[in-house]
Amino acid sequence: MSLFRPNIDAMEAYKPGEQPPAGAKVIKLNTNENPYPPSPQVAAAIRAELEAGAAPGDRLRLYSDPKATAFRQAAADATGFPIDQILHGNGSDELLAMLARAFVGEGEVIAYPYPTYVLYETLAHAQGAKIVTFDFPRDFALPAQLFGCKAKLVFVAAPNSPSGTVYDEATVRKLAQSLPNSVLVLDEAYVEFATGNLLHLARELPNVVVLRTFSKSHSLAGMRLGLLFGPRPLVDGLWKVKDSYNLDRLAIAAGAAALKDPAWTKANAEKVKATRARLAQALAGLGLDVLPSQSNFIFARMKNAAAASGAYRFLKEQGLLIRYFPLRLLDDGLRITVGTDAEIDALLAALKEYLARG
Ligand SMILES: Cc1ncc(COP(=O)(O)O)c(C=O)c1O
Repeated sequence: MSLFRPNIDAMEAYKPGEQPPAGAKVIKLNTNENPYPPSPQVAAAIRAELEAGAAPGDRLRLYSDPKATAFRQAAADATGFPIDQILHGNGSDELLAMLARAFVGEGEVIAYPYPTYVLYETLAHAQGAKIVTFDFPRDFALPAQLFGCKAKLVFVAAPNSPSGTVYDEATVRKLAQSLPNSVLVLDEAYVEFATGNLLHLARELPNVVVLRTFSKSHSLAGMRLGLLFGPRPLVDGLWKVKDSYNLDRLAIAAGAAALKDPAWTKANAEKVKATRARLAQALAGLGLDVLPSQSNFIFARMKNAAAASGAYRFLKEQGLLIRYFPLRLLDDGLRITVGTDAEIDALLAALKEYLARG
């Protein structure tokens, strides 16, 4: 007999993209990390934190700031948001988990379009929530049934993953207004690679929160940093379900330093966008159906699932790791993270070879 709640017994664990061992000779284009290093200010801030005090690492004896004040203040300075409308997370994954925990009880509804970030499903199962999904149409516009749906929590990744597509502001505003009894979470993990953002909606509307991660545009996936922006009553309530010391001292120093060097982040995002344009053109030239991406990855469909899964396996044998989702509506496509120009050249050469073999 299992001691777990029935929903935990029944659910599958989230399967993160493959993380090869350190030093493995692979070109890693599978989990949308940034191919360029973080701002040098980040390493300097971590070193300063380690060197402060009586001996190297002395500060690590003490708990970190539960309010991550230096990090949140830097975010307030960077965005103009009041600091009390900003909450910090151990990656945006932790903030997503906090939202599910705070707003959704057993049997209550979490809704989101499909296909999207797979973790939303895992978090819903962990809550014992009822999951309501609506399929995206082929162009990945927001499904009409999402508007006015009866849910406690609605997740929308903007840009979406794995499609890389975005929505216009007026449509998202209408969505939020159609959900007066729901919290609408706009997960802007990839927004620095897009032409616009929806942060202001978290300031204007009472039921909208916006999430940002430092894993993509700030090149800090390994530090686990995320931020939530939202109306004061929602943020105040979320503090109650936050682990007290959810960010460690080094992460707080790193996050604050990254936010103080926006030029670095922007320059890297521009490089990624230039490579993305080249990759999109080359994939289309190879006959793949490329979705218009505003993120640091591209989703491209092949002629069928066998072709796509074959390409994934062939590329893996060549030491090129991309993401393949053996899931409904996704199994004919490949999701490729935009790497350096050299990495993308290697990817394209291998893909050409695969296609030439028929
Ligand atoms: C849509 C989306 N949200 C959130 C995350 C996770 O971000 P973090 O690394 O900050 O937990 C990802 C990561 O792949 C993502 O694709």
